[in-house]
Amino acid sequence: MKILGISAHYHDAAAAVVVDGVPVCAVQEERLSRRKNDAAFPLSAIEWCLDRAGLEPEMLDAVVFYERPMLKFERILTCALRAFPRSWRMFPKATKNALGEKVWMRGIISSHLGVPGRKVLFAGHHQSHAAASFLTAPAERAAILTTDGVGEWATMTAGSGVRQRGGAASISLLREIRFPHSLGMLYSTFTAYLGFHVNEDEYKVMGLAGYGCPVLVDKVRRLIRRTADGAFALDLDYFDYHTTAARSYSSRFVDLFGPPRNPYEPIDLQSDDGKRFADIAASVQRVLEDTLVDIARSLRRETGLRDLCLGGGVALNGVANARILAEAGFERVFVPPAPGDAGCAIGAALYADRIHFRNSDRDVPDHPFWGPAVAGDDLARVAHEDGQHVEQMDDGALIEQTAGDLMEGRIVGWMDGALEFGPRALGHRSILAAPHDVEMRDRINREIKYREQFRPFAPGVPIEAAGRYFELPNGGTRLARFMSGVFPVRPEWRSRLAAVTHVDGTARVQTLERQMAPRLYALLEEYEKRSGVPVLLNTSLNLAGEPIVNRAVEGYSTFLRCGIDVLVAEQTRVTKRGSLLAKRKEDVA
Ligand SMILES: [Fe+2]
Repeated sequence: MKILGISAHYHDAAAAVVVDGVPVCAVQEERLSRRKNDAAFPLSAIEWCLDRAGLEPEMLDAVVFYERPMLKFERILTCALRAFPRSWRMFPKATKNALGEKVWMRGIISSHLGVPGRKVLFAGHHQSHAAASFLTAPAERAAILTTDGVGEWATMTAGSGVRQRGGAASISLLREIRFPHSLGMLYSTFTAYLGFHVNEDEYKVMGLAGYGCPVLVDKVRRLIRRTADGAFALDLDYFDYHTTAARSYSSRFVDLFGPPRNPYEPIDLQSDDGKRFADIAASVQRVLEDTLVDIARSLRRETGLRDLCLGGGVALNGVANARILAEAGFERVFVPPAPGDAGCAIGAALYADRIHFRNSDRDVPDHPFWGPAVAGDDLARVAHEDGQHVEQMDDGALIEQTAGDLMEGRIVGWMDGALEFGPRALGHRSILAAPHDVEMRDRINREIKYREQFRPFAPGVPIEAAGRYFELPNGGTRLARFMSGVFPVRPEWRSRLAAVTHVDGTARVQTLERQMAPRLYALLEEYEKRSGVPVLLNTSLNLAGEPIVNRAVEGYSTFLRCGIDVLVAEQTRVTKRGSLLAKRKEDVA
């Protein structure tokens, strides 16, 4: 059975194809359109996925959209009417969006793809999140907890799933919390207040939290009340997002926390306001963690299950995930590489396959590399035409050479194999550098990422060596597989891993298995031979405001526009014409 999954029209649109129960490809629209967080109907992603899978649209058995448009429209309409007349500005915008694109999704998909309307199915938004997490995890039974801003009505669901290899799979979401009560919206409201972009920059709040103290927890708790049934309710007087699209927080919120941050002014962490913003970030982060840990702990008690699958955009919060693993009583916590809405493209397709069509359960390959493959020859051609210094060498020589580059303090753009699905570079489209000195972190921030000083970089380490450098609880190496947990760097290593250690002594480490990314794994081994430490700084290969690069030419364009010293794609290595490095090579030649 051939199923296309689609997520679109909120943020980060994506497409995925599942054939005979196993994903064969998936890609976010932004990686192809080159517009960050592109929410448009993902025509390019669909086209690439069908092409990759060798399918024509008429060969599809089903096309599954990641939410139920009518339910979502009902929520928008209900909230607008409840808030009327305050909501009159929001109403035309919301209805135009919903009516224009979402409600008529069956017709839009049918006409874009030329498939009959009866083949277009809809999976619930949180069912898609749950499926993206549980049906891809190597677990036969697991508790499931999904948390995001909002889908149709649900903002959090809790339940469990059962998979029988070669047999049936089931997902039972037993409880839900509904909009406007939402942990994701609570966090996003603070994201907006702190002057960052909602739905994009939540991770900046988490980074900023490391610089603050959670001294305002009591104030944040005035906004969110735990209810007797173990859920929570927001005090809506502090929020405006449910009545207007123009503002997330109310004047009462500002009375409580003080003036919001001007997004155009940098955060000065030495100033009173800078400290206040960091303390606010630390406080909302703490309340989010406490609430999630508590709900996860109840779910553990209730289900008695040892594994937990997390889904929804809130599962990108690695600090909260690590606390859930350490404190909620589960042995393993699984977070897929794309827990947010893009991942719902795979989730919706798998949900249709296992639950709607009742096909037998199959194991899903346990990696994030579902996108287009990079071509080293393409890089060689374009760089050669440009007169750059181009070398092609076998794997062994390339890995030795690259380890040498890293030892000498060079910043390496590293492209290998298929593109990652999800927001994180997990070793196929990465910028790699030595992890030892803060100067390296500052240089990458200054010359490549052009970003705020408070945002940390992540380390990559072979799974076998991870415990030597990082304090990983039981199950920690699993959570760190797709960089989904933030853990303490061992105190004795913090000064030697300064470029990847956050101000609070933690790191969002990726534990690498040889099988998942063999070339990067070999590079870590080679780097260890030279430096004594198998750890590298690993950040996504893109410039600020741009999506992660996909093709070799995009990597090359990024390389030209910033301070990356060496660019590698498969077996091709490029250094900049005129750079000292290239000159030295030319002299030797
Ligand atoms: Fe979502």
